[in-house]
Amino acid sequence: MNHTIVKTDTALKGEGVRAFITSLVIAVSNCALYSRGHEAFDEFTKKCFSLLQGILKDRLAIMVIDNELIVNNNPLREGIHISNLIARFKRKGISRIDILPGVTQNEIGQLIADIAETGKTMKSYSHIKTGTVDIQLSNETGSDVAQYGSFIDIEKIKGIFHSLIFKQLDIKDLEEVVLQFVAAFKKESNILKYLSLIRANSDYTYTHATNVAVLSVFQAESLGISQELLCEIGIAALLHDAGKIFISKDILGKNGKLDEKEFAEIKMHPLQGAWYLAKIPGLSRLAPIIAFEHHMKYDGSGYPEARLNGGKQHIFSQIVAVADFFDALRSTRPYRGGMDVKEIFILMKKGAGKDFNPFLADNFISLMHAVLTK
Ligand SMILES: [Fe+2]
Ligand SMILES: [Fe+2]
Repeated sequence: MNHTIVKTDTALKGEGVRAFITSLVIAVSNCALYSRGHEAFDEFTKKCFSLLQGILKDRLAIMVIDNELIVNNNPLREGIHISNLIARFKRKGISRIDILPGVTQNEIGQLIADIAETGKTMKSYSHIKTGTVDIQLSNETGSDVAQYGSFIDIEKIKGIFHSLIFKQLDIKDLEEVVLQFVAAFKKESNILKYLSLIRANSDYTYTHATNVAVLSVFQAESLGISQELLCEIGIAALLHDAGKIFISKDILGKNGKLDEKEFAEIKMHPLQGAWYLAKIPGLSRLAPIIAFEHHMKYDGSGYPEARLNGGKQHIFSQIVAVADFFDALRSTRPYRGGMDVKEIFILMKKGAGKDFNPFLADNFISLMHAVLTK
C-alpha cells in the first residue's frame, strides 16, 4: 500500500527557511571566490532570492541568541550551515538581520557580500536591517533591586523586554508590573528618590524605559488622570522606545556624533516601534501612538515628519516626551556623563512652548523640585 505523507504549511515553511539559510551560507562562502558582478555570484544571489520569495511574508527575522539560530521565532536545528552562519554573525558583531517585504535581489547580493567580507561592518539597506538583539539580561540583579526598591519588579521588566524581541510580549506581565508601581505612588510619596540612583552599568534599555514609565505616571497622576488611564500610560511609556530593537547596536552605542545616515536610521525607531506595537494583540492603542509621537515636538517639528491627528501631538505623548528628555539627559551614556538636574531644568524651560507643552514642562519641574528637595 502507498502512503502519501502530506506536509503541513508550517513544515513546508520550516524546510523553506532552512533551504534559504543553507543557500545564503553557500553564497557567502563562494563570495570569496568570485567578485560581485561575476556570473557565479549572480547565480548564488538569484537562488537565495528565489528561495526567499517562498518564505517572506511580513518579515524574516534571523537572530542569534545563546548560540542558537532563530528564524521568525523558530530555532533551527543544528547543522554545518547553521553553525557557520552563527560564527559569521559573531565575527561581525551582529545578532540579528531583518529582511523586509519588497527586498530586491540587489539588496540580497549586498547582504551576501557584506557578510562575506572580513572586517567590513554590516550595513542596513531599505529592506534589510542588521543589528543586535538589543537586550542583554544583566546578572547584577542585586544592585538593580536596591536601585528601584521593592515597588518595581525589575526582573519582570527584564523578562518583558526579552519577550518583546520574540514578539511574545505577555500583556499580563506588563499590566502587573505597571499596576505595581502605579499602586506604589499611593504608598510611597518619595518614589522618585530611587531613580536618582541609576548606575551607568545598568542596562540602559530597561532602566531608561522604566524611568520614563515612572516619570510619566508621576506626571499623569499629578494631573488627576484616572487610575485606569495611569496604567495605560505606564505601559505605553515602558514601550516607547520598542522600535530601537530594530536599530543597530553600533549606532545606539556610538561613542560620538552620529553622521547623517546613522541619524536617519535612529529616526526610524518611532515608526518601527509603532508598527511593531500596533500588531500586538490586546495591547493598549496608546502604545503605538506614543511610540510614534515621542520625538515629535509640541510645535509640530521633530520626527517622524508624517503626522497623525493633523500634526498635534497627543497629550500623553507630550507627557512621555518630557519624561524621555529628562531621563535621557540625566543618564550616563557611553559618549557622555549624566547632566546635572538643574541644567536639564534650564534646557526644559528654554524648550517650553516649542519642544514641550509649557504647562507640562512647568508641572514636571515643580514636581521634581518638590521631590528632590524633600
Ligand atoms: Fe526614542
Ligand atoms: Fe527614550
